[in-house]
Amino acid sequence: MANKDVTDPARMEKIVSLCKRRGFIFQAGELYGGLNGCWDYGPLGAELKRNLKDYWWRKTVQERDDVLGMDGAILTHQDVLKASGHIGGFSDPMVDCKTCKGRFRADNLDKLECGQKPSCKPGEHKACELTEPRAFDLMLSTKLGALASDDDPKAIAYLRPETAQSIFVQYKNILDSNRVKLPFGIAQVGKSFRNEINPRNYTFRSREFEQMEIEYFCHPDDGMRLTDEWLETRLSFYEEIGIPRAKLHILDVPDGERAFYSKKTYDIEYEFPFGIQELEGVAYRTDYDLGVHQKGANKPLEYFDEETKEKFLPHVVEPSAGCDRTVLALICEAFDEETLTDEKGKDDSRTVLRFKPAMAPIKVGIFPLLKKNEDQVRICREIQKTLQPWMNVFYDDSGAVGRRYRRQDEVGTPFCITVDFDTLGQENPDLKDTVTLRHRDSMEQERLPISGLLAWLLERVR
Ligand code: GAP
Repeated sequence: MANKDVTDPARMEKIVSLCKRRGFIFQAGELYGGLNGCWDYGPLGAELKRNLKDYWWRKTVQERDDVLGMDGAILTHQDVLKASGHIGGFSDPMVDCKTCKGRFRADNLDKLECGQKPSCKPGEHKACELTEPRAFDLMLSTKLGALASDDDPKAIAYLRPETAQSIFVQYKNILDSNRVKLPFGIAQVGKSFRNEINPRNYTFRSREFEQMEIEYFCHPDDGMRLTDEWLETRLSFYEEIGIPRAKLHILDVPDGERAFYSKKTYDIEYEFPFGIQELEGVAYRTDYDLGVHQKGANKPLEYFDEETKEKFLPHVVEPSAGCDRTVLALICEAFDEETLTDEKGKDDSRTVLRFKPAMAPIKVGIFPLLKKNEDQVRICREIQKTLQPWMNVFYDDSGAVGRRYRRQDEVGTPFCITVDFDTLGQENPDLKDTVTLRHRDSMEQERLPISGLLAWLLERVR
């Protein structure tokens, strides 16, 4: 069994630095000193995140007959969150240090730094004076309406702490408007907000983050089996996007550590450079959610099975993944440094993000060998125009071609195309209208006809 505490801070530092230098991720509000626990995705990070969400949506909603999509509001009616138990019940235990005035999550002290001596954990330093743990509310609220007065409790709405609740609340509408039968799922990708006491490990624990959640409604007899099936489906998904099974760990959450309504929960964890940590939970939530909303709204949410004539409250299996955490796992997994030896025996180091092509922010780099050669530039621009409606490409004509390759390696571009003198048919007429296609991982090159590029690439980048 892998050791949960093995970490590689030096690797993590390099990853964070690359992400900033190449425009994947920036701290939100950095210009003004930063907003703790919030992150902005730059051009390449936004592409990567979009690729992940699009792939998840395609695999979860579009390629399945039994899952429908929805896109719910972030602002949430307080009664929804009262019924679900979030208001008054969604909290983490917190301690204060009376000496350094730091606030710490009481169940995470072994992973945090003392405010006075970072090499110690909170409570370890002789001057530490920790209070008894108390519940800290994780919910973020706002006031709705121009006339809302500060003390009007009815004006309070909440930024949703999970996307799941709008799925439960719309379950009946979706069932009735789509004529679906059990078992079926509703999937949603979107922002969630939690006022985390100690946001940490880069984007891993943030106050604003995205989730990719499925609520799969089923007959009570099928809940346990479907939980195991969804676990397998989700593990295969991670493999498909480039996170190998060997780096994933399944925690079968023991009795007493699961949410009180859950009959079974698996945490899917990944070996991050800061330790083995949760990417996704696959939880069998029974009929808890529909039960509390049926009671809270006083409206029937039962399902009537036409064949068996049975009426019952469906049970729910919930695979709930963190989008930002998966993006971070993709970057951590893709990051590689290798030493290459050139023809003269000189060592050189290469940084590569080995993304699967479907995840890569840029699919193809397009280069003219010589930027002063008008024909080469014209052909490059034509190729760019042909590919752009289908995929994100990047034109680059600055510096030596070798350096351009390295710049693309560093951001994970799987393929680079170079238009050269052979493309113009100047040296060998047989090579006219062909280009060099260079592979990021092997650095091997092959010659391909321009006319076949789009089809060749489409087969590999989706
Ligand atoms: N609806 C169930 C639910 O929200 P959760 O375990 O609290 O369950 C599901 O969250 C997933 O959302 C986690 O596995 C994680 O990937 C992501 N997540 C939760 N809190 C997060 C945070 N503060 N920052 C980033 N991702 C978070």
